Amino acid sequence: MKFTDISIELFRNGYCFKVGSEQYADHEGVDAVGRSRSGMLLWRQAESARLADALRTGSANMVSAEIKLAKELAVRAPNYVRAANLSAVPISVLEFGPGTTMAFREKTLPLVQGLTTPNSRCILVDNSAAFLEELRREYGENLHKLALVQDDIFSGRRFTHAEETTFMVMFGRTFGNLDAPASFMPPYQDATLTLRNLAKAAPSGWLAVSVGSNLDAPAAKAYYEAHPDFQLNVFYRMQAEVWIEGDFDPTVLHYEADVRGNEEFLQVVHTAIFSRDMAFRMEDVSFKFKKGDRLHLKNSFCFSANFMREAAICAGLEPIDLLTDGLGSDLHVFRKRTVF
Ligand SMILES: C[S@@+](CC[C@H](N)C(=O)[O-])C[C@H]1O[C@@H](n2cnc3c(N)ncnc32)[C@H](O)[C@@H]1O
Repeated sequence: MKFTDISIELFRNGYCFKVGSEQYADHEGVDAVGRSRSGMLLWRQAESARLADALRTGSANMVSAEIKLAKELAVRAPNYVRAANLSAVPISVLEFGPGTTMAFREKTLPLVQGLTTPNSRCILVDNSAAFLEELRREYGENLHKLALVQDDIFSGRRFTHAEETTFMVMFGRTFGNLDAPASFMPPYQDATLTLRNLAKAAPSGWLAVSVGSNLDAPAAKAYYEAHPDFQLNVFYRMQAEVWIEGDFDPTVLHYEADVRGNEEFLQVVHTAIFSRDMAFRMEDVSFKFKKGDRLHLKNSFCFSANFMREAAICAGLEPIDLLTDGLGSDLHVFRKRTVF
């Protein structure tokens, strides 16, 4: 789906799931004073700020905690392989949404180095051509059998060969971005379908998924509202790339982390709110918005450990391990035995 069509669907329906992945794209959009609003750049800035904050305050956040959990996963992963009597089999590593070279180096590379052999591959799937290009430049020469794939990680597509035993990973709480409407009910069906689709990427092996498990709504709201630019960057990209006629001003859209949940889940509905009336034509479609109208840009879900286990079992996966910092960062490990 082209960015123009994604933009039109967002304005038409108030929600388009594909907006979420477009936030990470590099583009020419700039703000009123000429600063780049490129998604890749803003994401990298938010990631560095979060890491610096964790170092300065000695506290844990998504970035710092996950780096520790990923290193522990790299230590434990050979044990899962031994326990499954697969030590003699080449194991490929497939990452959904690797992101920056920093995230790949700190989280994924230790796993790749611990698990892969000359006969196994490292497959990185991301929608962002910019991130993939950086990874190619940094690791293309040094990582044996590196495959970079620009595609939709949630599509349910197979990304491996028919008999390739694979350790699949999804870091950065990308799983929490799953497709679901804003709701006060826990999204069991949506989470189960998403896990099933991820597991379809390889015929057999393991799936490790990082999620936030702190269900404290004010903390989540403050966390996301600290970086509103990243959530709103798609509107600057529209201004730069899409044919728009009339009154379209990205600065009119304000960000709100609209939070809901219970003891099983927390949903952050990333929301853009019109701060005044606005009317414009995008390609051949006319839009009129009123002050206060809302657009649902993306989700960030956090889930309790029990929610994740139940959703995984419903998806046909076997929960085999849970790595946690006890403060809100969890890394679930599931085994996929059969082809589906
Ligand atoms: C939250 S970031 C996580 C990046 C990295 N794994 C980390 O731990 O920091 C999400 C990553 O997934 C990619 N992504 C998000 N949605 C996607 C989709 N539907 N298809 C492909 N890639 C997607 C983004 O481009 C980005 O690289």
